[in-house]
Amino acid sequence: AALKTYQFDVQVKNVSRLCHAKPIVTVNGMLPGPTVYAREGDQILINVTNHAQYNLSIHWHGLKQFRNGWADGPAYITQCPIQTGNTYTYNMTVKGQRGTLWWHAHILWLRATVYGAIVIMPKEGTPFPFPQPYREANLVLGEWWNGDVETIVKQGNKLGLPPQMSDAHTINGKPGPLFPCSEKHTFAMEVESGRTYLLRIINAALNDELFFAIAGHTLTVVEIDAVYTKPFTTSAILIAPGQTTNVLVKADQSPGRYFMAARPFMDAPVPVDNKTATAILQYKGVSNTLLPTLPTLPAPNNTNFALNYTSKLKSLNTPQFPANVPLQVDRRLFYTVGLGQNACPSCQNGTQLTASLNNITFVMPKTGLLQAHYFNMPGVFRTDFPDRPLAPFNYTGAPLTANLGTTLGTRLSKLKFNSTVELVLQDTNLLTVESHPFHLHGFNFFVVGSGVGNFNSKKDPAKFNLVDPPERNTVGVPTGGWTAIRFRADNPGVWFMHCHLELHTMWGLKMAFVVENGKSAEESVLPPPKDLPPC
Ligand code: C2O
Repeated sequence: AALKTYQFDVQVKNVSRLCHAKPIVTVNGMLPGPTVYAREGDQILINVTNHAQYNLSIHWHGLKQFRNGWADGPAYITQCPIQTGNTYTYNMTVKGQRGTLWWHAHILWLRATVYGAIVIMPKEGTPFPFPQPYREANLVLGEWWNGDVETIVKQGNKLGLPPQMSDAHTINGKPGPLFPCSEKHTFAMEVESGRTYLLRIINAALNDELFFAIAGHTLTVVEIDAVYTKPFTTSAILIAPGQTTNVLVKADQSPGRYFMAARPFMDAPVPVDNKTATAILQYKGVSNTLLPTLPTLPAPNNTNFALNYTSKLKSLNTPQFPANVPLQVDRRLFYTVGLGQNACPSCQNGTQLTASLNNITFVMPKTGLLQAHYFNMPGVFRTDFPDRPLAPFNYTGAPLTANLGTTLGTRLSKLKFNSTVELVLQDTNLLTVESHPFHLHGFNFFVVGSGVGNFNSKKDPAKFNLVDPPERNTVGVPTGGWTAIRFRADNPGVWFMHCHLELHTMWGLKMAFVVENGKSAEESVLPPPKDLPPC
């Protein structure tokens, strides 16, 4: 195992896109930021020096950080933010993971421009469990606003409404030629006829699930969220914010130029967003002036495509890469997931949209929860997050305006070390149904089941896949439906769980688990590093 060291200088840089120039927060002046490369087993040290005007922290999305929440990064959950002028070193070791993950700022909406890929190669001499690709490339999907994102968010909050939508989607920070002034902001990748390429696709967008396709070419899915899958071929993939998908692409078409494209999947009754980011797949030796063709992406409201695609995702489940699904469950949790509305005297309409789990809107603490837990600081959080809704109702029935209000609290749920947990996430129709990509820090989980309508605790568990369910760190709760996940609480610490739509996280669609220490020192949270930022 090697030691990999990176210097991340968080700094403001002027960047122009769509005919608009503005200062943005970047890492090392890059958009996307630098890719972190490592091998399974390596130790990674990342010195983050904050030269920007915002205090911030960085999350290494999907890295398990065993016993080491101090390096996880969500602000006020596992650390206080790194203040302007200060440095914090994220010290992490990659254990039992290889594949594509990513990193992003984990405070405010700064991840709009502060994000990048993490590529973990298998141990030296260990091949991929699929044909060795000739070359590989990262495709990081994102969003771009012409205005200053934090200002736009503040304006929305003043009204108690969602902020203005982004102005473009991007591929590797570039929107592509369908947007104004964007001809030169187009990502291009050169391929050789007959060769196979591995594309590491990451959805770093703030608020959109995306379809992605390449004109004329099929995609073979081989990995999701840094876990190998049973390979299958598809015309397009669906990827939610927070998720990663590795696909193999064979350059088997007539030499030419082909558009790769990403566009939102939106099946909720919200304003339709048709913005299409494009990049170019170009065969070697072909003229740059050739007009590329666009792929046929599934329509924005094509729920059938989405459900069908999702049902094909299965763990590889071989002796070398087994799916260790917990078969017996120690703790059963049922959380409703939805939007609501609370009074807001300071908002223009007197009300404000909000979001909640089991009707609780999470309130961010002023000090890191992991510190509060580790040092037994009283009064920072409670551990009485309810295992199920206090008053069950017809979750996905007609909108229930009477139940719109939520209660506020910094309430966590305590889990015994090494216990097995089943969590059903149930979308609600209090205001409107909507898909929610849920991310759990500190663990991977198995997606054992999902369905539309209300979860039926008598009938649905009989249909669970306990053999080769997909294993991941972010899962889409279907619009007007539910999803069931299982995991083993074998990582002591405080672990955030939230919707990865930044809008919903901001509105309170989040909570955290406290996983208690086990009996031995090897099963306990590590001591905090000396340079942990103070609050
Ligand atoms: Cu990628 Cu808590 O987030």
